[in-house]
Amino acid sequence: MPTIRLSSETDFAGWRQAARALRASQVAPEETLWTVDGAGGDLFGEAGPMPAPGGPTFTVPRDFVELADKVILHRCDERFGLLYRMLWRLAREPHLLALHSDPDVQKASQFARSVSQAAHKMKAFVRFRLVTAEDGEETFVAWFVPAHRVVETTAPFFAKRFASMNFSILTPDACVHWDTKALAVLPGADPADAPTEDRLEDYWRTYYAAIFNPARLKVDAMRKEMPRRYWRNLPEARLIPELIARAEHRTTTMVSQAPSTPSRRLARPAERTPRAATTNAGELSSLEDVRRGVQACRRCDLYRDATQGVAGEGPAHARLMLVGEQPGDQEDLAGHPFVGPAGQMLDKALAEAGIARDQAFVTNAVKHFKHEPRGKRRLHKTPNTGEVTACRWWLDAERSLVRPRVIVAMGATAALSVFGKPVAIGKSRQQALQLPDQAQGVVTYHPSYLLRLPDAAAKAKAYAAFVADLAFAWKLAA
Ligand code: URA
Repeated sequence: MPTIRLSSETDFAGWRQAARALRASQVAPEETLWTVDGAGGDLFGEAGPMPAPGGPTFTVPRDFVELADKVILHRCDERFGLLYRMLWRLAREPHLLALHSDPDVQKASQFARSVSQAAHKMKAFVRFRLVTAEDGEETFVAWFVPAHRVVETTAPFFAKRFASMNFSILTPDACVHWDTKALAVLPGADPADAPTEDRLEDYWRTYYAAIFNPARLKVDAMRKEMPRRYWRNLPEARLIPELIARAEHRTTTMVSQAPSTPSRRLARPAERTPRAATTNAGELSSLEDVRRGVQACRRCDLYRDATQGVAGEGPAHARLMLVGEQPGDQEDLAGHPFVGPAGQMLDKALAEAGIARDQAFVTNAVKHFKHEPRGKRRLHKTPNTGEVTACRWWLDAERSLVRPRVIVAMGATAALSVFGKPVAIGKSRQQALQLPDQAQGVVTYHPSYLLRLPDAAAKAKAYAAFVADLAFAWKLAA
């Protein structure tokens, strides 16, 4: 009996070539055995050579090829033989696939459905953890055990979605690596190769607990959509039993409570028109007022699509204030400024300039994340002048409370807000610019601009200038 040895568990091209040759040579399905390189050598004995292509050519319905392409990824050993039996039968039963009651058709369709479902679950439940190498390079690494062998076919989805991230998805079947340019597939890994925790997970858990709505809890639907086998992989999973246990109590409490309204002192300034309010930033008496006011802010529409407002953070009377553009995706989820990739770049530059981050007050010109959806991603959108002007009210409040000696505007949007007019960054760097509130202004590049520069030499030059600008501002503030 010929034993066909394929090069891997997902060797569709090999299966196709062998199946065509076997059918052309009239080798019946019950006379063939299928195996894979490295699997069960003893059991199957010596495999014969791959049948040479030849014999009469034939065509098969396109639907069958598409079905087989999926079925081959199923973990059941029976799949190669099942597909060859169907190919064999198609010669005499060209409408086989339309026979929904046929056991082979039923089984193959069910295999294909399970494979599609496994790919869907992988897209939903892969969770990356941040790994920083000694040279500072960041890679997001995920460990995942897919129900079927869908890693390679699902990898392009992740490459498209996380195009600008270096990432690796490790699975027992195969590992895929994306370096922002190309996908590489390597042999499977061990769970011990995967990192277990990172700081992003705390943000993710906080976000998950915040969006978990006890009033809409449907435990059965949740279990069906997120089967237990994937929980091990999900940072938020450990919260689920407690959130479910507390849901009933939380719902009863929510229903019995009167609707809450922000206090008048906070809501009044937030409701004012930007123009009228700019003169009254001094009405807030503490940074905590600002923080709570930002959450209630409706001065422009950006609050609608943001998770939360992100106010500035740092010492109440810092000598140095650093102003960015607006929170990014990670800042929006975490509720803190500059914690994502731009924040890491800023931290590194501050350290090189000899400034401890916790000595500076770090904030943004705009307090809500402006973005547009692109698939499941949220792409940053630059705030317009109206939004910057509306939000300037909050920055002015922070300025009048903190009273920094020096304010560094990082990038054009920050400069527009801090100086109230457009400023050419390249021409105005390394100068102490007078501001009306007794502070001196310094302009420099935005850290995201440095991250985006494609050319390594240009990036290094701009980064050195950025560090020099921060050091200049720090000296001025001394
Ligand atoms: N970019 C900004 O301007 N601010 C942040 O907080 C993060 C990214």
